[in-house]
Amino acid sequence: SAMSNLDIDARYACAKSLALEAAQLGMTYYRQRETLDVEHKGSDRQDVVSIADKRIEDFIRGRLAERFPEDGFLGEESGSAGLKARCVWVIDPIDGTACFVNGLHNWCVSIGLLVDGEPHVGAIADPNHDELFHGCLGRGAYVNETPLRASTATHVCEGLTGAGTFHPRGKEHFIPFLEKLLAEGGMFIRNGSGALMTAYVAAGRLIGYYETELKSWDCLAGLVLVAEAGGLRNDFFRNDGLLRGNPYLVAAPGVYSQLAKLIGPSLDA
Ligand code: IPD
Ligand code: CA
Ligand code: CA
Ligand code: CA
Repeated sequence: SAMSNLDIDARYACAKSLALEAAQLGMTYYRQRETLDVEHKGSDRQDVVSIADKRIEDFIRGRLAERFPEDGFLGEESGSAGLKARCVWVIDPIDGTACFVNGLHNWCVSIGLLVDGEPHVGAIADPNHDELFHGCLGRGAYVNETPLRASTATHVCEGLTGAGTFHPRGKEHFIPFLEKLLAEGGMFIRNGSGALMTAYVAAGRLIGYYETELKSWDCLAGLVLVAEAGGLRNDFFRNDGLLRGNPYLVAAPGVYSQLAKLIGPSLDA
């Protein structure tokens, strides 16, 4: 097949080991977080970045360039290169930076791989909870060694739904969604890491996760897990979603359409 000249095994193994190594590097910064300079990105006082985010991204990018020099790259902190390649790595060095700098444990390293434009490999390392979520197209998704399965819920009242944060784009849809979810007997929860919340949907811990706008580095690794665990997602990649971001919904198969309906047409507009 067309895939046979690409070494997916090597890339999957690399994604896992690199996520674990980068997460350990993250832990060394996390232990000294009080000494790290924190900068604000643009005018949003809550959108923060530290030297740890940049160093971890440089570390991952350097390793990938050594191992797979022909592959493309897209990262939150250092931008993109080689996006026309068949294999493109999409990474977030720290997802949950606001948690990280404030001493909350909900952060992770997220490493995803697109092959011919499709999410194919994902590895999300959460060092504070010793959890490595990983998966590969057609081979299942796991937390450490345990297979992941999306929830069997058939109504939003049967579990917890993750909700993201406010964004300039689509923020008018956020509170109305929460109100409708509550009216249906549902409940929302937010932990500050979209990548981990996505992994939790794959694990059946959450029945869904909605954010009015997410970026591809937040969710690419997680999307592989959700698909392999039997979950559903919206048409996230439309209109250049890979580079621009889009509204985002992942959910267990029995509640996806109910959640999509509560959100309304803005989800896939
Ligand atoms: C953020 C987290 C957060 C989500 C934001 C993201 P960052 O990523 O995933 O949960 O609500 O949309 O930007 O900045 O911590 O990498
Ligand atoms: Ca960020
Ligand atoms: Ca992120
Ligand atoms: Ca980040």
